[in-house]
Amino acid sequence: MTDANLDPAAELVGLGLERREARWLVEEFLPGGDSDALPVLRAAAQRRLNGEPLQYIIGHWPFRSLDLDVDSRVLIPRPETEELVDVALAQLAAAASGAPLILDLGCGSGAIGLSLLDELRTRGVAATLIALDESADALDVARSNARKHHLHAVSFVHSSWFDALDDSLRSRVDLIVANPPYVAAAEMANLDPVLNYEPRGALVAPDVRGVAGIEDLEIILRDAQAWLRPGGSLVMEHGESQRLALLDLAQKNGYVHVRDLDDLSGRPRVLVARRPE
Ligand SMILES: C[S@@+](CC[C@H](N)C(=O)[O-])C[C@H]1O[C@@H](n2cnc3c(N)ncnc32)[C@H](O)[C@@H]1O
Repeated sequence: MTDANLDPAAELVGLGLERREARWLVEEFLPGGDSDALPVLRAAAQRRLNGEPLQYIIGHWPFRSLDLDVDSRVLIPRPETEELVDVALAQLAAAASGAPLILDLGCGSGAIGLSLLDELRTRGVAATLIALDESADALDVARSNARKHHLHAVSFVHSSWFDALDDSLRSRVDLIVANPPYVAAAEMANLDPVLNYEPRGALVAPDVRGVAGIEDLEIILRDAQAWLRPGGSLVMEHGESQRLALLDLAQKNGYVHVRDLDDLSGRPRVLVARRPE
């Protein structure tokens, strides 16, 4: 018997997988060590060796308190987006809204909005979420993640940004969270090839006035204020090169308490802005 027979992870490492990824695949596809499942494990390993993201192969991935189902219909939730959730929770705590209304723009798998609902529930706060996306496929994934985690105070809206939102919501939203597409088309070639497996519409945005990938960020920043209640906050993820343009636009659009935060790797990442009281 070879080492690989004793330790299937060793076989996958021998094929070229990183040890950590090999272990995750074994935990997922060979949980009881059942050798009948070896062909399934090897097929999964081959998909990874071909370049497919591990998250899509495994089909679910942790994001803060949630285990989210993910597949090629949605962006793989990123660790820096987990940091955005902390910023959003702090904004709500500072506003002390009893039962906040939250709008998640471009919800994808539901990562931001659903984890906010879940963590607020744990704190005894009964929030309501509107999760919005222009991708009907993404909304299906988010809906199923909401069911999986028994999160019921959520409605799903198929819309390009604010276009299909009910007018009655104007000036009523306590918190808008967004992680819109912000990669320029020209940047895609230099980035991790894993991005080629993710929906392009979740990643790439047009340039505006020479600022790469900023169009969706600008639309959201320009239009969000009309939907926030006075004192309500916008918390929005963005790329490294977009900080100055967004800070400038936030000031010009009359937001207050405008700041931009670095992520844990020290890169410009999250814009925070409030509608004046
Ligand atoms: C970067 S992904 C973020 C997904 C999720 N919020 C997350 O953080 O993992 C951007 C999302 O915005 C959606 N999107 C792109 N353009 C949009 C638009 N014009 N209106 C609404 N959603 C849009 C995409 O379908 C995608 O789900």
